[in-house]
Formats: sequence, structure tokens, C-alpha cells
Amino acid sequence: MRKLVIAISMLAFAGSAYADPIQGRQALMKERGKLAGQISKVVKGETPFDAAAVLDALKALQANAEKFDVDTLFPAGSDRGDTTAAPKIWEDMAGFKAAEDKFLADTKAAVASPPADVDALKAQLNTLGGDCGTCHQTYRIKKS
Ligand code: HEC
Repeated sequence: MRKLVIAISMLAFAGSAYADPIQGRQALMKERGKLAGQISKVVKGETPFDAAAVLDALKALQANAEKFDVDTLFPAGSDRGDTTAAPKIWEDMAGFKAAEDKFLADTKAAVASPPADVDALKAQLNTLGGDCGTCHQTYRIKKS
């Protein structure tokens, strides 16, 4: 019976962009973490400021946000499993989508006015990092 249920749920996801929406959204989030980490190193002075490399990272964040389709990645029922997505997402889907839309808009704004120096990049990272933190605080459960 259990195997049958698993087989059916696998079939249900087979047509979507990701074999498993939880893995799909976590993979995109991991990429966000990596990109934000790269930018953060420049702001901290651990990596020298290179305008082209910084713009590439910002563009990659925008592309990531564009790929992040909430409807596909957070189907009903995907609050269960190996996930830190909070039930609040499904209780307040509009608020969650608005938080992701704001992040997408902020990545676009950053790409549209490429930072000329570390100070400008720092301001952008504050905005983008604020988006990560605000969303996580409300829509992600902390696992101990
Ligand atoms: C609109 C909401 C939202 C925004 C904006 C957001 N996140 Fe997330 N993030 C989530 C949710 C929800 C999860 C939990 C996903 C899961 O476990 O299913 C998550 C999980 C993660 C994870 C853990 C992934 C894993 O392997 O389990 C990392 C790392 C992460 N986010 C980084 C970031 C960074 C960095 C940013 C900003 C540049 C960001 N996130 C912006 C909602 C958001």
C-alpha cells in the first residue's frame, strides 16, 4: 500500500518541472545562498571588487528568482516531508508570493543599476539580504 502511494505521488510530479518540488525549491535556495555568499565576500573585502563578476552574480540571482515559480514549487501537501517550509506559506499564499515578488523586483533593480563600487554593492546586498531574512522569518521554520 505504501509503495502504491509513493508510486502514485511520483507520477503526479512527473509532469512538473521538478521531480520533487521540495528538492527543486531547496536547490534554487541553495544557489541563492551561494550567490549571496559570493557577493557578501566582496562586501567584506575578502574578494576584490570586480564589476563584471559582481554583475554576473546579480544576474544569476535575478535568473534564479525568475525560475522560482511558487505555484509549481509549493503545491498543496508539500509542507510535509524533508522541508523547512512553514505551514504559514499555505495559510498566506498571497503574502508569500508578495515576498518573492519583492525579491525578484529588487534583483532586477540591482541588475538595472550595476554597482560601481563596494559601497553601492553593500547597499544592494542590504536590500537583497533583507528580503531573504524577512521571508525566512515568516515562512520558514527553524529546525534545531
Ligand atoms: C519569498 C520567500 C523567500 C525568500 C525571498 C528567500 N527565501 Fe530562502 N527559503 C525560503 C523557504 C520557504 C525555504 C525552505 C524551503 C524548504 O525547505 O522546502 C528557504 C530555504 C533556504 C535555504 C535552505 C535550502 C535547503 O537546502 O534546505 C537557503 C540556503 C536559503 N533559503 C537562502 C536564501 C537566500 C540567500 C535568500 C536571499 C538572497 C533567500 N533564501 C530568499 C523562502 C525564501
